[in-house]
Amino acid sequence: MKVIHVSAECYPAAKVGGLADVVGALPKYQTNLDYESAVIMPYYDNKYAKSSKYITDFKCNVDLAENSYKAVVYKVENSFEDLGFHLYQVKIKGLLDRENVYGYGDDTERFIAFQKVVLDWILQFIKAPEVIHCHDHHTGLIPFMLTQCTKYKSMRGIPTVFTIHNAEYQGEFSFEKLSYLPEYDLEYSGILEWDYAINPMAAAIKACWRYTTVSPNYMNELPHASTGLDWLFDTEREKSVGILNGIDADVWNSSTDTMIAKNYSVTTVEAGKKANKLALCEKFGLNPDKPLVAFIGRLVYQKGADIMAGIFDRALDANDINGLVLGSGDPHAEFLLNELKEKYPGRYNTFIGYDEELSHLIYAGADFLIMPSRFEPCGLNQLYALRYGTIPVVRTTGGLKDTVKDIGEKGGFGIRHEHVTVDDVALAITRANKLYNDTDEFKRIRKEIMKIDNSWENSAKEYIELYNLIAK
Ligand code: ADP
Ligand code: GLC
Repeated sequence: MKVIHVSAECYPAAKVGGLADVVGALPKYQTNLDYESAVIMPYYDNKYAKSSKYITDFKCNVDLAENSYKAVVYKVENSFEDLGFHLYQVKIKGLLDRENVYGYGDDTERFIAFQKVVLDWILQFIKAPEVIHCHDHHTGLIPFMLTQCTKYKSMRGIPTVFTIHNAEYQGEFSFEKLSYLPEYDLEYSGILEWDYAINPMAAAIKACWRYTTVSPNYMNELPHASTGLDWLFDTEREKSVGILNGIDADVWNSSTDTMIAKNYSVTTVEAGKKANKLALCEKFGLNPDKPLVAFIGRLVYQKGADIMAGIFDRALDANDINGLVLGSGDPHAEFLLNELKEKYPGRYNTFIGYDEELSHLIYAGADFLIMPSRFEPCGLNQLYALRYGTIPVVRTTGGLKDTVKDIGEKGGFGIRHEHVTVDDVALAITRANKLYNDTDEFKRIRKEIMKIDNSWENSAKEYIELYNLIAK
């Protein structure tokens, strides 16, 4: 292996959001470019694990203070044929082997143990990888442990890349848990510290060789994004680079997608979108003759969940459109979105939950997809929407700014708005409705957007260039 990606999520083994999509696709594109790439992630007790075959690759014990756990690194059999890269999963009985990825009171312990096993596994390799690529704070202690812990001294020369998918989540925990880490010279504790706590995101930024964000614009925003690490992002800027996420063009392909009602390509987009919209509208009791505006995502503050019901209420009141939301998260946002169904029967619906298949049908069947994000490190939804001929309506922030051009600009194909307010987003939806009624222009744009190449090909090369810069 030349590069080992370390992550808490990887599609299809476990997915909560876009992190899984990235780690499930980038390694495949790197391998296609002859840069052999593997992924190591936790083993969760989920559907994927139940239907997969495993072979034992490595066994060890992992200690957290006085507790000792048995750990096994499994190689997922056939993963190369299915996924295009080798996948390894770390099973730690009593810690990691639960159904969900996050959300447990002992997540700190779970991910520290995971990271220690990953390094123990690499330690016994005959040939070390050229690069270790860590993703988000669950893997943020690896660059520190590699450079500072006595146990891993022999691996100090392996370069590390740390990718920030979301700087809002940093994984902070108290110094009382310091003894969970392997032995190191306490003089260097400052590397771990931020605001009197151990902060894995901050530690990674300080200890890694290079760090990246998932879009260039998010990198520009970080030094003043109020994440609490603004100063750090400013001072460490020299070792950073923004590389835009791509999409897995094999998985997100309207011509072959088995999760949608009818396959279509650029040349058959009108008939294809129509059939998928019909299937979607039938499922949710909506009117296929009206423009359909959808939202898909985690119902959290980042995504504008707190004003989502207000947005649809205002937009439906002002326009002859239909609305649909797929998501889960904040219970109050879920409640308000469910309540809205009663106010607009036959015009609006909510599906609370996580449903991969339904998300594909919505990308294929909707006319517009809204993303009123307060911040968005990259955003994949708008890229999927484009590929399926669905016009994105996005806030001008992060990766959304890098990937969506407003129809008011030359060569524009989407709708952008500046603020995350009910007024501003509803106004953007009114612009979308106007565009829908300008039939020729609407049809022209949705054909054009399907041709935009946002696949991983280019960005996978950019990562390899970065690895080559730091690897021996
Ligand atoms: P984030 O990682 O911040 O959640 P992204 O736009 O990068 O946002 O990626 C979100 C991914 O999760 C996309 O693949 C999207 O389709 C998927 N997704 C989000 N919520 C749901 C849901 N409720 N059901 C199915 N897929 C979802
Ligand atoms: C994060 C971000 C999202 C990004 C995804 C994959 O979850 O919120 O913007 O697209 O990671 O990098």
